[in-house]
Amino acid sequence: MTNPKGLNHPTDRLDRPIRDLRISLIDRCNYRCPYCMPISEFGDDYEFLKRDARLSHKEIVRMATIMVGLGVTKLRLTGGEPLLDKNIVSLIERLATIPGVDDLAITTNGQLLAPKAQALRDAGLKRITLSLDSVNPDRFAQMSGGRGDLDSVLAGVAGAELAGFSLKINTVVQRGVNDDGVLDVLEYFRGTSHVVRLIEYMDVGNRNGWQREHVVPSSELLGHINARWPVESLQPNYWGEVARRYRYSDGGGEIGFISSVTAPFCGSCHRARLAADGTLYTCLFATQGTRFLEPLRWGASDEEIGNMIRRVWLRREDRYSEQRAMSEQPLLPKVEMHRVGG
Ligand code: GTP
Ligand code: 5AD
Ligand code: SF4
Ligand code: SF4
Repeated sequence: MTNPKGLNHPTDRLDRPIRDLRISLIDRCNYRCPYCMPISEFGDDYEFLKRDARLSHKEIVRMATIMVGLGVTKLRLTGGEPLLDKNIVSLIERLATIPGVDDLAITTNGQLLAPKAQALRDAGLKRITLSLDSVNPDRFAQMSGGRGDLDSVLAGVAGAELAGFSLKINTVVQRGVNDDGVLDVLEYFRGTSHVVRLIEYMDVGNRNGWQREHVVPSSELLGHINARWPVESLQPNYWGEVARRYRYSDGGGEIGFISSVTAPFCGSCHRARLAADGTLYTCLFATQGTRFLEPLRWGASDEEIGNMIRRVWLRREDRYSEQRAMSEQPLLPKVEMHRVGG
């Protein structure tokens, strides 16, 4: 698959264009998944952005529009939990009308999805990715830090189906935590149009105590799955697709593997991440980003902001997952996942 570079669009030092903008609407989450927002020995000590320290929807639409002019064609709203933003539906309506946006998606934990699914669809949302680590209610509750309720999330799945969405289901697999329930998750969604993607546990942020031993390599999972339901590999849907795709040979549907620890995919990484405080990050594991809140509020023109983003992208050389694959210790300190989005 070829690199979809556009004329006059910036490419970074590794010849990667900017195609995918992930926008974290809010740094809060109603869950406390231990791999993302663990509760420490000092309790739930997260400090969140105040309302005026977050980009307004108008500012988000402006940033997105400028970045579409630089080559972005895909927008994904994340968090924290994006459905905690009470006005997300009207934001989606505005983003959906930006000329050049081919794909508009959200990543959610699904807890608040059921009553909103139809309105999201009507507003122009194209796709939903839902995080679901277990179909065992107790394990599920444990993996959400005691805040999640499996039935509400499954109601969210049903609501999304009714509204006409096919989902991607993201399952982070941790050895000794939920690896014994992976086949149950797959079985639950087999025969539906939803695509489960098994994600290798990553060393995002600084708080989850990541250890390589807790990662279950995708190759190991593939072996178990293939023994139960034979699978065959599929071609990627697009250049730089994060998941490697497979289908069940018996027609039971599609699954995917996201293997950023054992098979990093930095070479085709065309993702930029805009945090809720207006900082633009060029890697999920970044230690630093570039602030756009002040230029947006202090009267910079679209052209000036566009040129700033272009400069950020032209000097980008991130490839953290590839570098981590070569070193023993995670690099510190990194931005937290609930701030930068998944
Ligand atoms: P599609 O648009 O459906 O292809 O999804 P996507 O793969 O772009 O996005 P999604 O948010 O579903 O990504 C799933 C998971 O893959 C994330 O939650 C991360 O765990 C991981 N991931 C996504 N992008 C990156 C990335 O750029 N680097 C690394 N290391 N992991 C990523
Ligand atoms: N490793 C892998 N994936 C993670 N996510 C959050 N933290 C991690 C981690 N440590 C994923 C979740 C969710 C998305 C928001 O990010 O599965 O799908
Ligand atoms: Fe869990 Fe997603 Fe919330 Fe992180 S942002 S705590 S992964 S639900
Ligand atoms: Fe992209 Fe950074 Fe992830 Fe590599 S580690 S794929 S550069 S976000």
